[in-house]
Amino acid sequence: MSNNIESILTESRVFEPSEMIKSQAGINKEILDAMYEKADKDHIGFWADLAREKLSWSKPFTQALDDSKAPLYRWFSDGELNVSYNCIDRHLENKSDKLAIIFEGDQGDVHHYTYQELHDEVARFANALTAQGITKGDRVIIYMPMIPQAVFAMQACARIGAIHSIVFGGFSAEALRDRVENAGAKMVITTDGGLRGGKSVPLKASVDEALEKGCDTVKNVIVYQRTKQDVNMKEGRDIWWHEAEAGMSNYHDPVMVNADHPLFLLYTSGSTGTPKGIQHGSGGYLLNAMLTNEWMFDLKDSDVFWCTADVGWITGHSYVAYGPLAMGQTILMFEGVPTYPDAGRFWQICQDHGVTVFYTAPTAIRALMKFGKEVPEKYDLSKLRILGTVGEPINPEAWMWYHDVIGRGECPIIDTWWQTETGAHMIAPFPGVTPLKPGSCTRPLPGIDAVVVDEEGNEIGNNSGGYLVVRKPWPSMLQTVWGDDQRYIDTYYAKFNNKYYVVGDSAHKDEDGYIWILGRIDDVLNVSGHRLGTMEIESALVAHPKVAEAAVVGKPHDVKGESVFAFVVLNQDLPEGAERDAMVTELRNWVAKEIGPIAKPDDIRFGTNLPKTRSGKIMRRLLRTLAKGEEITQDTSTLEDPGILKQFQQK
Ligand code: WTA
Repeated sequence: MSNNIESILTESRVFEPSEMIKSQAGINKEILDAMYEKADKDHIGFWADLAREKLSWSKPFTQALDDSKAPLYRWFSDGELNVSYNCIDRHLENKSDKLAIIFEGDQGDVHHYTYQELHDEVARFANALTAQGITKGDRVIIYMPMIPQAVFAMQACARIGAIHSIVFGGFSAEALRDRVENAGAKMVITTDGGLRGGKSVPLKASVDEALEKGCDTVKNVIVYQRTKQDVNMKEGRDIWWHEAEAGMSNYHDPVMVNADHPLFLLYTSGSTGTPKGIQHGSGGYLLNAMLTNEWMFDLKDSDVFWCTADVGWITGHSYVAYGPLAMGQTILMFEGVPTYPDAGRFWQICQDHGVTVFYTAPTAIRALMKFGKEVPEKYDLSKLRILGTVGEPINPEAWMWYHDVIGRGECPIIDTWWQTETGAHMIAPFPGVTPLKPGSCTRPLPGIDAVVVDEEGNEIGNNSGGYLVVRKPWPSMLQTVWGDDQRYIDTYYAKFNNKYYVVGDSAHKDEDGYIWILGRIDDVLNVSGHRLGTMEIESALVAHPKVAEAAVVGKPHDVKGESVFAFVVLNQDLPEGAERDAMVTELRNWVAKEIGPIAKPDDIRFGTNLPKTRSGKIMRRLLRTLAKGEEITQDTSTLEDPGILKQFQQK
């Protein structure tokens, strides 16, 4: 959602923390001020002390930050630990009967796992992975729906030091293949299918299709039986989860790894056609994932925390599978969609399972808002005490609805700014302390040196805007782009002489120094909180035999934030009437097949050429105006062929 920053700032209201949250929050103003002071005085010491205090180490680290190969920073490198031990085993002494996971399936089936049961599931599956020859450093692709077994698989990989890479279940076979190949994965873990909104998604069939060509590194596929739909099991390659686990012990000795051992890769879109494998380490990543659950969500033993993100995204890593478990808290997992069987599903789940802290995306709030406040009013939401949002700027209307209707005007809205690359929250309010302004993610966290700078890299003053950068390294930062250090440096550091991490967002700093994220500065779209590269969609379109050229831009959308709008040049005559409609459908399905349904263009327009300057540059600003259906005010005199604008205006 493109915020109109001028009007938002003039109307902006300030919300002080409610008495309810002030009386509950574990971090008050004094504690927070002391944290800022300590972090300012001794940035590395601040993080080192927290790492010693919060994580369980089998061997302590002697050096907190290794910057000898900057900007390839490494944290706590010579310390040793195991992430799964930190998330599970260390809670067994006092909390073995505490609920770790409450699961509700698409069809309303509910399953509970205590910490002891979580331990046993993970240990058994870790033994199964080892029996299949998976060892430390091997890459394992997880392509599963939002079910507890996805978390078991992640934790089991962490337990043996294997590096997992989750591919969101909504990605297509083609997208899956690219990721399997880039990661050089030895195994794929999947399910027969997944259930979403009453429909089954054929995951195993996509895996089969992905592995048909190339992917020679994959030796085995483990298949969890979720839907019991028919699948082909390839002899010698495919094994059922329950068979792989049969006879395996509930005991597994976690493999201790160096803190900088890669924990996972997560592919994300950038401004080129190929997604990059964001590599995260173990100790530093876990520290920030854990701490931000404590800081932003104030998680306590009595809480039931529900982060609605799928494990296929970074939010599902840090706020489902790792952070809250490292704190020994109870999480809720939900397999389905917010509007099935009706638009009360989220609120019904909050009521039925006593959810106290709820974390979702602005796109979900906007979608549910449309059904009116009568829907949430049918449910008892009185246990909710903190509400979070992530993924894109939240527009003030959605913020107010969330605050007043869902949060009774009492629950703070914790707007968390961060990225796949940052591993954990970077800019966000503290629930009992920070005054809130609807639409602003407020201030950087202690130890996070995020600032807004101008073109030369100088920090700007209040009431102005520029590039958001992070000047000092932080523990959960990405380690590199998998197998491509140069791409890491070029993408994130080159702009300011390798000194600052360049986020890729622009931001405004208001009169109080509050940060307002304005949007991406690169060719990345944010569709329903999902990052999609325009180049990625363009490459998918151009791969279609009838497409000669394509340009993709984002169009503001009232629920998704942005929608995909494609301008296409065919290598045949301009299609008309029914032929045109058929072509649109064909291309939309094609993109779904190449990338996944989330990347399907909402609009496709045809022309005989793209609007280019005489030097051959595509005029993207002009395309954005066309996409919005607005009058063209830009200078089109440099256009090679002004006639094509008419073609592209035709719906
Ligand atoms: C955007 C998701 C405004 C931003 C955790 C960022 C946000 C990109 C917010 C990262 C927020 C995320 N306010 N914009 N609270 N949170 N973004 O990697 O453009 O999927 O760069 O990580 O989402 O998306 P990613």
